Amino acid sequence: MAPIPELISAKANVERADSSLCSAFFLRVSHGTENAVRDAAVLALALLAWGAWSVKAMKEFSHPGTSEKAPVDINRAIETTIMVTRNEWKYVAEVVTQFSDAMPPVPCRQGEITQAILNLIVNAAQAIAAVAGDGSQQKGKITITTRHDGQFAEIAVHDTGPGIPREVQPRIFEPFFTTKPVGKGTGQGLALAYSTVVRGHEGRLWFETEAGQGTTFYIRLPLQAPVAATASG
Ligand SMILES: Nc1ncnc2c1ncn2[C@@H]1O[C@H](COP(=O)(O)OP(=O)(O)O)[C@@H](O)[C@H]1O
Ligand SMILES: [Mg+2]
Repeated sequence: MAPIPELISAKANVERADSSLCSAFFLRVSHGTENAVRDAAVLALALLAWGAWSVKAMKEFSHPGTSEKAPVDINRAIETTIMVTRNEWKYVAEVVTQFSDAMPPVPCRQGEITQAILNLIVNAAQAIAAVAGDGSQQKGKITITTRHDGQFAEIAVHDTGPGIPREVQPRIFEPFFTTKPVGKGTGQGLALAYSTVVRGHEGRLWFETEAGQGTTFYIRLPLQAPVAATASG
């Protein structure tokens, strides 16, 4: 399964939290048994809570689409995703946002949708890096736009990368299709984003691209649950 950057960093954080809890515990042991007993209880509780949380997270991760959708402040979720991906773009691009200031809450599973947006941002940064090199020349630009009408919310991720070559375009949503070197690309980002948006959220995912100019990926999510067709017509 693809290593998901958010999960990896969450795990790293927890590991850090675990080890600092442990060292705090052993430091306190030297200060007397009473403290040690209390600290052991605190440590046990923390580990129990982490265990329960990680089981729930893994269940949701391995069965996407099973948890309920909830109203999400999508602009805010995107801001967070931009910060989470900062290491991917900071040397090669600036990120600019053009958010709708009247965006209604978007009914979705936030973790899945932010993962899809994260994949688009990482792709945009890697596309720019392919032409901007180490970023010592002029930086590229990633522009993230949100807009909506009564029916849908739209998120667009535009980059000033090289564009997607014509012969590659029909294949980019295929699982495991990648044009990147081993270690950089797994070919799963767009396949996963497609599955999440189209199958998991009844939305749309598509792109526009122009050689030498850049690429824009669009995500459209319905603002209302689709009305089931009725036989009464
Ligand atoms: N913004 C983009 N600009 C140019 N090419 C892109 C862009 N996004 C995706 N691609 C192309 O689509 C392919 C598949 O993308 P993806 O599924 O995310 O896998 P990966 O990024 O691991 O290669 C990439 O290898 C690349 O060739
Ligand atoms: Mg990718």
